[in-house]
Amino acid sequence: MSFKAGISLSPREKRHTVSRYLYSHFAEHLGRCIYEGIWVGDHPRIENDGGIRCDTIEALKKLELPALRWPGGCFADNYHWMDGIGPREKRPRRHNLWWNQPESNEFGTDEFLRFCRLIGTEPYICLNVGSGTVEEACAWVEYCNSSQNTSTVALRKANGHPEPHKVMFWGVGNENWGCGGNMRPEYYADLYRRYTAYLRGIAGPEAKLIACGSHPGLPDWDERFLANLRDGNMLHSVDYIALHSYLGWGKSDVNFSDEDFLNLIASIDITGQCLRRAIGLVQAAGTPEKKIGVILDEWGTWWKEATVPSGLYQQNTLQDALFAAVNFHLFHELGEWLFMTNMAQTINVLQALILTRGPELLLTPTWHVYEMYKPHREGFLIKLAQTSPNLRFFETKEIPALSSSATVSSDGRRMFLSVVNIDPKQPCSLAVSFDDLHEWRVTRCRSLSGGSLKDHNTFESPGTLEPKDLPLPEKAASPQFQLSPASMTTILFERD
Ligand code: AHR
Repeated sequence: MSFKAGISLSPREKRHTVSRYLYSHFAEHLGRCIYEGIWVGDHPRIENDGGIRCDTIEALKKLELPALRWPGGCFADNYHWMDGIGPREKRPRRHNLWWNQPESNEFGTDEFLRFCRLIGTEPYICLNVGSGTVEEACAWVEYCNSSQNTSTVALRKANGHPEPHKVMFWGVGNENWGCGGNMRPEYYADLYRRYTAYLRGIAGPEAKLIACGSHPGLPDWDERFLANLRDGNMLHSVDYIALHSYLGWGKSDVNFSDEDFLNLIASIDITGQCLRRAIGLVQAAGTPEKKIGVILDEWGTWWKEATVPSGLYQQNTLQDALFAAVNFHLFHELGEWLFMTNMAQTINVLQALILTRGPELLLTPTWHVYEMYKPHREGFLIKLAQTSPNLRFFETKEIPALSSSATVSSDGRRMFLSVVNIDPKQPCSLAVSFDDLHEWRVTRCRSLSGGSLKDHNTFESPGTLEPKDLPLPEKAASPQFQLSPASMTTILFERD
């Protein structure tokens, strides 16, 4: 038995633009993300382009990730960038403190920037505030962005890069309330003021300076940080404040119940509340001349299998994919103030897009969400009214059985709807209607679904979860769609 639901789309009621940067990502020196996932050096059996594995390049190029944050994470506030430049054989070996693994420094700034170019993404570098110095941070920015006649620029040129790399996104520390120095917001704010006093001029006028923000368990960090900057008349030094939110804690990646899944989807509201609170604060802090935006710098599932000894490796199931899709619907909603989000992390760590096993590589179901949702980028979010039953779980909790979001292209001729049927058991019979006078044709309909929420791609069966094209519905004023239980469907409408 399927349940009935309806979505009414209002293409004329355009809201804000959905920033493409909402689909950005994050790669840290952690576990097998950088080493093995990206960098294989001169590995004899893994095809590589100057040390960067070719299959990773191919897989990520397809996603056109708008930005990639690096080198951490907690690693960032213990990283000294000079260790990672120049002849590889001369680079020092260090201990990666937070993730308890050796760091060869083979993958450094120039390798990261080359990787970004190869996959067509913009670099976002997180500076070391916790254990670094202003001088070190300024020199890094100068190395990347300056064209002055300085020794640091000469060093970049000697390393094979005559032209500036023009890195636009600079994070001023990571989790400085925790692994980034255990700071109080007032202390961090003072450091932020000091660092940015020098960074702004070196990074260039278009560069964006990003402050460390809160997480859901730290409600007053953003307020106290912004209050400190306001008092010093320094709010102009912040372009974005960056929050972190991980969900799923304590539960298992593949051993979970349907109720656990519903609870996970319901918990997305925790991220929503955290983002809304930060948005309220930046709205109040900004002026017409200076708008501060919000970034969700790290997000995704964090299952109990992801531990330091496992290199934060976890499996990625249909559950993770649906979780990502529902999060994106939230991010679209908040997109007037939410500028960027970076899921953690790109390869082999937490909610990864790609998993590798030596020379093998597979795409996770979450990779498919990024691919399927591409048409939403830079579209106008439109008004949508959804009618659907609620799902009850843990006796008293309830969430709607559908989650949806729709955008329209800037010329108004293409409309893109994404719908998640959250119900793990029941298919949905969905009727879509439009409140304008145009004749909208369905030109493509794709769906990602499986026999179970626990389905995932393996090296033995890498295509277990892949989107499939669905037959297009009959032409009608209100086309009908059949959505499988626990599925994600994207529908493209076009008009003349
Ligand atoms: O993504 C893993 C870790 O989670 C990051 O290093 C840190 O910023 C966060 O606590």
